[in-house]
Amino acid sequence: MKPLLIRDGQLFDPGQGINEPWSLLIKDGVISWLGETRMMPPETDCDIISARGLFVVPGFIDLHCHFREPGFEEKETIATGAQAAANGGFTTVCCMPNTLPPLDNRESVEFVLAKAAKEAVVRVLPVGCITRGRQGEELVDMADLASAGVVGFSDDGDSVANADLMRRALESSHILGLPVIEHCEDKALSGRGILNEGIVSARLGLKGIPPAAEENVVARDLELARLTGGRVHIAHVSTSGSVGLIRHAKREGIAVTAEVTPHHLTLTEEEVVAHGTNAKVNPPLRTSRDIEALVDALNDGTIDVIATDHAPHTVAEKALRLEEAPFGIIGLETAFGSLMGLVNSGQVSIDTLITRLTSAPASILGERFGRLGTLTVGAPADVVLVDLAKEWVVDPDTFASKGRNTPLAGRTLKGKVMATISRGKIVYKDDSLA
Ligand code: DOR
Repeated sequence: MKPLLIRDGQLFDPGQGINEPWSLLIKDGVISWLGETRMMPPETDCDIISARGLFVVPGFIDLHCHFREPGFEEKETIATGAQAAANGGFTTVCCMPNTLPPLDNRESVEFVLAKAAKEAVVRVLPVGCITRGRQGEELVDMADLASAGVVGFSDDGDSVANADLMRRALESSHILGLPVIEHCEDKALSGRGILNEGIVSARLGLKGIPPAAEENVVARDLELARLTGGRVHIAHVSTSGSVGLIRHAKREGIAVTAEVTPHHLTLTEEEVVAHGTNAKVNPPLRTSRDIEALVDALNDGTIDVIATDHAPHTVAEKALRLEEAPFGIIGLETAFGSLMGLVNSGQVSIDTLITRLTSAPASILGERFGRLGTLTVGAPADVVLVDLAKEWVVDPDTFASKGRNTPLAGRTLKGKVMATISRGKIVYKDDSLA
């Protein structure tokens, strides 16, 4: 393969303080040279992409998505999920273990890694279960899964209800140097709830999920992280109360990191009225007060990263009644455009947005999986070209994902991924790019 020169764009890597009109050369899958646009690159026989008018940023990293393979290939496969990631500018994604069978043993983890090596256009890193079969009763062999290649542990979709098991998971993960990624939900409180407990649930006469269902478990896990010294990563934070707890814990030096999804940052419980099951997600969309707290937390670093929680389901499943349809919203292909809404309205800076999608998740993963989320000579060539001003209309029928379950269908977004390069290969290119 010829070297690839990306020129005439604005190189933007806030993790390194780079914001320069530089060119970038890719050779043998790694970034081999950065230089001023007028300088001659060290290779003359190369393919060229013109990034005129575009920002050239590190490939995004998603610590939380669902690719459904093995077991639910009708919803998504590793191949379709990875292409959806590429189309959305993500070059590294961590897939959750609530598959069938769940990723609770070495063979399943090896299956995902082998499939990804063969079929995925971006880097797919599996998360292993915390408990066998996600049943919440017995810990998996965490050391064995770590040596098989998991990047962390999670029973996502469910909390670990038993506090002693969670304590032991944190102790083991501490030794292994990997995070426990907790879905915080007190099932006794959330019960058969469908959406946020509040004005909209009351109006619709539907059972709600109170903020305390999340905050109870966040508070418990922060105390367990304090007790064990283990690293807890709080998945999909949705309430202002959780933000307060995490902010306080960080001040006290507890080893906690946290993520927020694009949908929790931009959409409220009202979406359920207009978009029904396509806005049914767990944790539920909350209120504008919660959004304010989540945005503040993103800005001050209380929340470290943005993760999509891309959760595809079939059209037939989402056509069920609100009470019966599964929870989940897809997010990989709309994340950047919808998050740019926060930049366009002045709530979040472009520096913060790109940091929370690149260098921040990279530092949670550590260097064990490569030097990710950075435009550094010698790092894997994971590079994305974005147009901050391009407007486009969300049309789920054009998605690479098998999922169509988004409340954003028909919406105009300003900000678009124009090309994605994963490990030196162009894996997505907008039709309008020369
Ligand atoms: O809405 C959700 N969907 N939340 C979860 O925690 C799990 C996910 C899924 O797997 O569909």
